[in-house]
Amino acid sequence: MRLLRASCIEEIPYAQTKVMGIIAVHGGLDTSREKQYLEILQEAALRGHELLSKNRIQALEAVLRVLEESSKFNCGYGSVLNFDGVVEMDAAIIDGVSSRFAAVAAIRDVQHPVSVARALMEKTSSVILAGEGAVKFARKQGFPTANCVSDEQREAWQKARKSLARGEKPAQNLYTGLAYYGDTVGCVIWDGAGLAAASSTGGCLLKTPGRIGDTPSLGGGIFASKTSAVVCTGIGEAFRETLTAKYVDEKIAGGSEPQQAIKSALRRLHEQKKAEGGILAVDARGRVGSAFNAGQFPVVVVVDGKLLDNYQPGNLRQELSVH
Ligand code: GLY
Repeated sequence: MRLLRASCIEEIPYAQTKVMGIIAVHGGLDTSREKQYLEILQEAALRGHELLSKNRIQALEAVLRVLEESSKFNCGYGSVLNFDGVVEMDAAIIDGVSSRFAAVAAIRDVQHPVSVARALMEKTSSVILAGEGAVKFARKQGFPTANCVSDEQREAWQKARKSLARGEKPAQNLYTGLAYYGDTVGCVIWDGAGLAAASSTGGCLLKTPGRIGDTPSLGGGIFASKTSAVVCTGIGEAFRETLTAKYVDEKIAGGSEPQQAIKSALRRLHEQKKAEGGILAVDARGRVGSAFNAGQFPVVVVVDGKLLDNYQPGNLRQELSVH
């Protein structure tokens, strides 16, 4: 595995180096940063890099497919269960050059929601399909029925339902009032010619059936333009209502570095919604930024095929505590 040493934590002076392409991927807010999680993120990012010179959208899809196959991340096979014990997933993909965007919401029984979103973007003029319609579209496109309920998540759901039945309150999600687990995964790409972003999630544990988060919300949880590519993770309702991803893009367009723009967005999110979140972005100069105000936020960055060693997102937890 090729490693490039980050010259300082959080901020990487890409603009001073000749960079052929950047892939930055996160494993979701409050997902573990243990080695086994980081290794899967690294594998995903390097898989994407192999395809970067061909097609940035194909590269994005490849990154997220690795995570959707793992039971360690809250997407695809590792998705959390809704209140009824069913996995309903959201995924989105956007190309900043063409500004084509597509998403699936509350989709069930497919292993790769991100691939269904890509098919929607490339083969139709639709922007979002939800629920039954999204599943029907997936089948028509040849995506087979897949079990997305892992043993770990079935167990977590049973435990959470039992504690609710006993009248105990699990760790709280400010918006749903329910237990919270690792969140949406996301990836941003800059290939020297353009920017793109994709996200995939099972949403919140015990969410109301049919509830759709910020992942398929253009400008809320995801955005890409000729200026930047941005993905968010955290309480979906807060990101949707504040259009946080679009705010980050606007700050960068106004001259902020991605890291400054993200910190400003988290402060704004905290001020307006008292919410926790994590944000990852790359801009058209190849500068990456990331920060969060919760427990953990695993992020991996690959620059020109080389993994940055020990990359750390900015931690604003003390400044922006919600507890
Ligand atoms: N951030 C994922 C969700 O709220 O669904």
